[in-house]
Amino acid sequence: MLKSAIPFTALGLVLVGLLLFTCNEPQEPDTPTMDVEAKIDSLMSQLTLAEKVNMIHASSAFTSGGVERLGIPELIMSDGPHGVRHEHGRDWVKDEGVRDSSTYLPVGTALAATWNPELGYAFGTVLGTEAKYRGKDVILGPGLNIIRTPLNGRNFEYLTEDPFLNARMTVGYVRGVQDQGIAACAKHYIANNLEYDREYVNVEMSDRALREIYLPGFKAAVQEGEALTVMAAYNKFRGEYCAHSTYLLDDILKEEYGFTGAVISDWNAVKSTVGAATAGLDLEMGSDLPMLATGNVDYNKFHLADTLITLIESGEIEESLIDQKVRRLLRVMFAINAFGERDAGAYNTPEHQGIARQIADEAIVLLKNDGALPLAAEGLGTLAVVGANATRKQAGGGGSSQVKAFYEITPLEGLQNLLGDGTTINYAPGYEVSREGGTTAEMIAEAVEQVSNADAAIYVGGWIHGYSDEWDDNAYDAEATDKPDMMLPFGQEELIRAVLDANPNTIIVLVGGGPVDMRAWQADAKGIVQAWYAGMEGGNALADVLFGNVNPSGKLPMTFPVKLNDYPGHPIPAASYESKEFDYEEGIYVGYRYFDTYEVEPAFAFGHGLSYTTFGYDNLTVEKRDGGVVVSLDVSNQGDVAGAEVVQVYVHDDESSLERPQKELKGFQRVSLDAGASQRVEVTLGEDAFQYYDDTQGKWVLEPGTFTIMVGSSSRDIRLEGSIDW
Ligand code: BGC
Repeated sequence: MLKSAIPFTALGLVLVGLLLFTCNEPQEPDTPTMDVEAKIDSLMSQLTLAEKVNMIHASSAFTSGGVERLGIPELIMSDGPHGVRHEHGRDWVKDEGVRDSSTYLPVGTALAATWNPELGYAFGTVLGTEAKYRGKDVILGPGLNIIRTPLNGRNFEYLTEDPFLNARMTVGYVRGVQDQGIAACAKHYIANNLEYDREYVNVEMSDRALREIYLPGFKAAVQEGEALTVMAAYNKFRGEYCAHSTYLLDDILKEEYGFTGAVISDWNAVKSTVGAATAGLDLEMGSDLPMLATGNVDYNKFHLADTLITLIESGEIEESLIDQKVRRLLRVMFAINAFGERDAGAYNTPEHQGIARQIADEAIVLLKNDGALPLAAEGLGTLAVVGANATRKQAGGGGSSQVKAFYEITPLEGLQNLLGDGTTINYAPGYEVSREGGTTAEMIAEAVEQVSNADAAIYVGGWIHGYSDEWDDNAYDAEATDKPDMMLPFGQEELIRAVLDANPNTIIVLVGGGPVDMRAWQADAKGIVQAWYAGMEGGNALADVLFGNVNPSGKLPMTFPVKLNDYPGHPIPAASYESKEFDYEEGIYVGYRYFDTYEVEPAFAFGHGLSYTTFGYDNLTVEKRDGGVVVSLDVSNQGDVAGAEVVQVYVHDDESSLERPQKELKGFQRVSLDAGASQRVEVTLGEDAFQYYDDTQGKWVLEPGTFTIMVGSSSRDIRLEGSIDW
């Protein structure tokens, strides 16, 4: 079912080699076998300065400038990251009447909760084939910013708080997209970890935090995934806009990581001509956004447009800098065969819907189960369903990641599909989603009545992406906004308490990109499920999990704290908001690295997720082999239903010169086992699994000594321990 991951560059070169390069004008000696760089040389020699500059800024909302005279097309981009966005037209006016629905995949946090890199690849293939069908060249994803605070409005688009999981899930995603001949775009490089005033904030962090926490996802995307493009973030990093940062774009990304593709700015992230022209920013996008308000959009007014030509002509900026940018863009175009014919791609195939379903099945996390789950469908007379998220479609909200879903199965529809006519489902919204609204005494009374008189009851609430699909309606899990706190909105806390009082067996399902404060009701709930935004098949997947047709196997890709201020760096100082200066003082102690080292009890730990069966862990061996460390163990399914477990391997440095976290994830393996079955699982750790970044020396260090290897079912459920000496 999954295509094999052919190295993309190789694929690109073969395609390019096979295809005759077609231009309107006769070219330099170019033959079907002509080397790509030679073709680029040939084009470069023919391009005028004005044409080159035209290529390095937008020509419409989502296209770069082309050069018709030489047959150089526009690069056509689309969000991303969990579906090909609906059409916006060249001028940001939503196109009507076009065939622009797409497969709505589970969001980033859901994908990461599968801990299944193969699904990352499958996810990418859906995006790549649908992007191709829709005539796109670049998908603006994956979103790789580290989940540093539960408040960030865009966490749902990202993957995890952990750099290793980030890297592993990313590589598959990028390859999946690019094996379809479409470029992926790793975004937002770097430290866009909060949406607050994102175009103006400055982020400070130690080199160690940068290297150990924030960079590994991007490094893996470009080095292992061979991502063809990277998006420079809005914010400043160490006083300089990311889109103007020679340190980030040239020194680290291009020189150190060997990135040969193109850096695209986030939309309106370029703030000055010299800043972007002299750094490794290759394509300026979105600077028309502020012009829209004036009704006077002029692409020649971009920073990398007419002003740049003037500065080159006056000798203040060297033309060779522009040549480098154009070369990179051409390289991307050749790699995706933008000059030739592509196959048609595919549109909402049953296979794509199946992938969306499988990801949702594996993503849903069973947080708590005091014997309440799974529910029994057989003989179920009446089911009460409460909560506005049971009927709410989520695909269209949240900002640029919005998708016009081909269809979206809501939780209520999923339950109806599963239960059929034999069960009566009584639905009560319980609260209203609106800025002014929330719950009322009448709504609570109605919900209480329904759950009191039902044979089973399910609550489906949590976060939303916004009140409607309109941009300025964004709220909670959405772009350009953050959550005010971790408290459930719309009076849901009061509602959940009333519902649990009336029927203590009510299952609590939370939709959303991350944690909520559950203190008011967590202890009283017998079953709690984290459903994320699980894509177009999310409702069916949720019903399957609740009724045991699918055994849950998702694991949290982030820590769920008891309360917001347990989180490192919280409360975020008011002075930071005022000055727009955000200093990541917690350094490397992000997520569980902090909770475990400083012994702060979370509500649900990183890596946590229950199953309807139990898994045994036995016979751990840890040995050095072929330059790495092989961790082996027997995993057995000790229950009476089939299930899947994610075996997690954490490393602790027993003694080190610089302080290190109590544990760090360095390997994992998902294993599916029939009831009673067992399997020997092997996880290999490279030398890098034992290194830390020593910022006093500016390099990665493997310090000799003993390392404890912890193997478990979550970061707080360690079942076996061993050790290895280096
Ligand atoms: C977002 C990007 C997105 C771009 C284009 C920006 O506002 O930050 O993630 O790709 O818009 O829609």
